[in-house]
Amino acid sequence: MDVEEMVKMADGLVFATTGKHLEHLQKTVLKGTISGQTYSQIAQEHGFSESHVKNVGYELWHILSSALGEKVTKSNFKAIFKTATSNNLTASISIVCNNNQNINIFAGQEERSPADPPNPEQTPTKPQIKLGDAPEILSFYGRQNEIATLEGWIGEERCRLVELLGMSGIGKTALAIRLIEQIKAHFDYVIYRSLCFSPPLETTLTNLLQNFCQPPEILYQLETQLSQLLNHLRSERCLIILDDVQVLFSSGQLAGEYRPGFENYPLFFTRIAETHHNSCLLLISREKFREFTRLEKQPYPVRSFVLGSLGSAAREILREHQLSDEDSWETLINTYQGHPLWLELTATMIQQLFGGKVADFLQYETLILCESVRSQLERQFQRLTTPEQSIMIQLAHEDAPVTLQQIIKKVKLEPADVLNAMQSLAQRLMLAPNEVGNLAYFQLNAVWNQYVKKRFQC
Ligand SMILES: Nc1ncnc2c1ncn2[C@@H]1O[C@H](COP(=O)(O)OP(=O)(O)O)[C@@H](O)[C@H]1O
Ligand SMILES: [Mg+2]
Repeated sequence: MDVEEMVKMADGLVFATTGKHLEHLQKTVLKGTISGQTYSQIAQEHGFSESHVKNVGYELWHILSSALGEKVTKSNFKAIFKTATSNNLTASISIVCNNNQNINIFAGQEERSPADPPNPEQTPTKPQIKLGDAPEILSFYGRQNEIATLEGWIGEERCRLVELLGMSGIGKTALAIRLIEQIKAHFDYVIYRSLCFSPPLETTLTNLLQNFCQPPEILYQLETQLSQLLNHLRSERCLIILDDVQVLFSSGQLAGEYRPGFENYPLFFTRIAETHHNSCLLLISREKFREFTRLEKQPYPVRSFVLGSLGSAAREILREHQLSDEDSWETLINTYQGHPLWLELTATMIQQLFGGKVADFLQYETLILCESVRSQLERQFQRLTTPEQSIMIQLAHEDAPVTLQQIIKKVKLEPADVLNAMQSLAQRLMLAPNEVGNLAYFQLNAVWNQYVKKRFQC
């Protein structure tokens, strides 16, 4: 089988799965892979960024994996295609292209007669992607493992309810939008909505129902709307992403406490988890949902994912900002917890005030928080309860990690209030215990520590 035949066969498989033929860059990645090139070589030769070429590659392997029913990767693609040909493993099926030309390809176990008329329901109308107010993601780096995990849960394991959690600016929205690209072939509908303007549940359900090709006559009764939506989730495979869900929670109360007027949202989330259907609701939030703790223990397909540091992929952000002193980049990334937004804002400051020289910026003993990072932290701090704030202030006074018992001794609060506040800070992803032996130790991360120290002169 030569290169062109392999590309033709891959094209047939991609068309059978997505209703679209291979795009130019997808063909380029295939040809490069067949001739043994790395992503970086393909990128250089054709003038694309390496991350873009990688993303195109991952999506392609994913589609081919779904088409062939086995994991296809860059390293096994050639071998799998060769085996498929030599073993005649799979039946040769006929795909009717847009131009009515038949191509014979290898795919799955099913067979379709070349004489079968094209099925109008399989024409390339799916998936319907309704991104609404989703932001456009111009650059995206790393996160391959996170995408693979979420893809496994949502695409293959068919989880009905997934929460994607993380601090403000850690990259939840960017990840979800990137995930859509990767996962859309599994779905009939992909719908993204942000709840940033705090819509009541009835408005959200009406809005979701309007996205379907044949929206039902929308009745403004919650129960009816909910069963109309569940009917759609059963009859079509849908991925619904609700972003900024933390706006449903009260400020100045422990984490996960719904604001007045929004108490019926947990009913919606629970129904999605407990009712049988093939779809998925992905909730994106800065605070964990209390009902998940119960649902995750039940045998329902429900999962939580906490998004953390961007790791070494954050180097690309520094490169984009044209910073110099590459030897110091790792220190900068670790200091700012691999947090993409904090790094973007800090990189802008380094670019403007230090001529891009990271080492010059890092020469100061204290960690510098630019005003944009500081005001972002301030908004989050203001949402905390008084006991939570007291614990943060106490932790900023500590030079080393402390145990729960030590915090209870030092903070002038009832032990029960300290425990509830600690649990709440954990639900907000602002504090995580570090287990040493069988003891849990707590410490603020360097950025929060610096913010609280400066604000309260600790
Ligand atoms: N993987 C990534 N690669 C490059 N930039 C990223 C990445 N993730 C996030 N960012 C950038 O960081 C900023 C915050 O990301 P966003 O997704 O809005 O965070 P969140 O939704 O968690 O508040 C955005 O400017 C975004 O472009
Ligand atoms: Mg967001």
